[in-house]
Amino acid sequence: MVCTDPDVNKYLLSSENKGIFPGYPRSFSEMVGKWNPANLLGSEHKSMRSSFLSLVNTQAIKEMLLPKTDVFMQSYVSNWSDKILDFQKTSNEVLMRLVLKLVASKEENSKELEELMHQVSLSLFTPAISFPGTTYNKSHKARRKLVQMLGKIIEERKASKCSRNNDVLDTLLRYSEDSNSVIQTDEQIIDHMISFVLSGYETASTILMMAVKYLHDHPHAQDELRKENLEIRKGKPEDYKINWDDYKSMSFTRAVVLETLRMASLGLGFLRRTTVDTEIKGYIIPKGWKIFVCAAETSKDPDTYPEPLKFNPWRWLSNMESHQYFMLFGGGARVCAGKEVGILEVSMFLHYLVTRYRWEEVGENKIVSFPRVEAPNGLYYRLHNC
Ligand code: HEM
Repeated sequence: MVCTDPDVNKYLLSSENKGIFPGYPRSFSEMVGKWNPANLLGSEHKSMRSSFLSLVNTQAIKEMLLPKTDVFMQSYVSNWSDKILDFQKTSNEVLMRLVLKLVASKEENSKELEELMHQVSLSLFTPAISFPGTTYNKSHKARRKLVQMLGKIIEERKASKCSRNNDVLDTLLRYSEDSNSVIQTDEQIIDHMISFVLSGYETASTILMMAVKYLHDHPHAQDELRKENLEIRKGKPEDYKINWDDYKSMSFTRAVVLETLRMASLGLGFLRRTTVDTEIKGYIIPKGWKIFVCAAETSKDPDTYPEPLKFNPWRWLSNMESHQYFMLFGGGARVCAGKEVGILEVSMFLHYLVTRYRWEEVGENKIVSFPRVEAPNGLYYRLHNC
């Protein structure tokens, strides 16, 4: 069943206590791992979700994720003048390298880790058909290897007790030493690491790619974004750092990220399944049915977003995030746990991009939005210093 009604969608996302549970395919559960909050129900979901949230809350962002992301982006988004880049490839690469650095301080020599994670990400929503050569089969093998590699990294980290990396793995190891923590085993640590990488990798990298495109196509929005970000740089030394106050002041940048997510309809929707016969607006949805909560439709509803097909970041400056039909990051008890990290990653990339470069299209770039948003032939722009 497909549901496009905003009220019913909202109800479906917040009715886990009425037996409406996530209904993702087997491949998703297997790839993200058994300890990913998205795979758990009831009290297990509550406790794993809260341990995941402590990795990505405001304190973690202020003290670790923001400074690390800033240093990474400052050096990654550099020396691009007069180069032609395929932003589809670049977005995937930048996001994967960044998250591996945040999770396990891996940046250099992490090619194999990057490739394995990417291969696993390809099977989140594919049919679980395990013949030699199918994507699912390759991803399964990649996950097994990934678990071994992460296990080795954990062992090394435990052995070098005195080294401090200030990353997600350090935090998880600290939790596992506390007997009151829900994180006790290496398997749980590994699943949290994989969840941190995979839960936001594809979405954030696609937002990044599409933001580059929308900003190119809407120079007025690009100018406004540049103005806000140059203001932050003003009066600072060349190797400046972006602090928490700077980041909080980037309201137009945040608006660009949200408008890109809304326009590109990345998450076409969320899957739910009924575990009891459920009555909604006079209709009975039988037990065991799958429901596709069509969020893409809700994010193009003209009653909520006037002129919904127009790229208009300004609409987010008037507190639209607290609108009752805001569901770009899901809703209810399963609303995205890493929302602020996803917004941070894209915002920091955009900061260094717009303060350093302008970009012009090379060739005719084509975007398709089904089954996933992608540029089948790449998304090429030539960059110039600004
Ligand atoms: C900006 C990009 C992102 C978007 C658009 C996004 C979107 C979503 C959505 C829509 C859901 C809910 C799915 C459902 O209800 O079935 C979700 C759940 C989740 N997201 Fe994100 N996400 C993003 C980034 C991230 C990042 C960066 C992380 C991790 C650092 C993350 C971690 C999670 C987790 C753990 C869940 C499961 C929550 C639960 O079941 O309690 N997400 N995300």
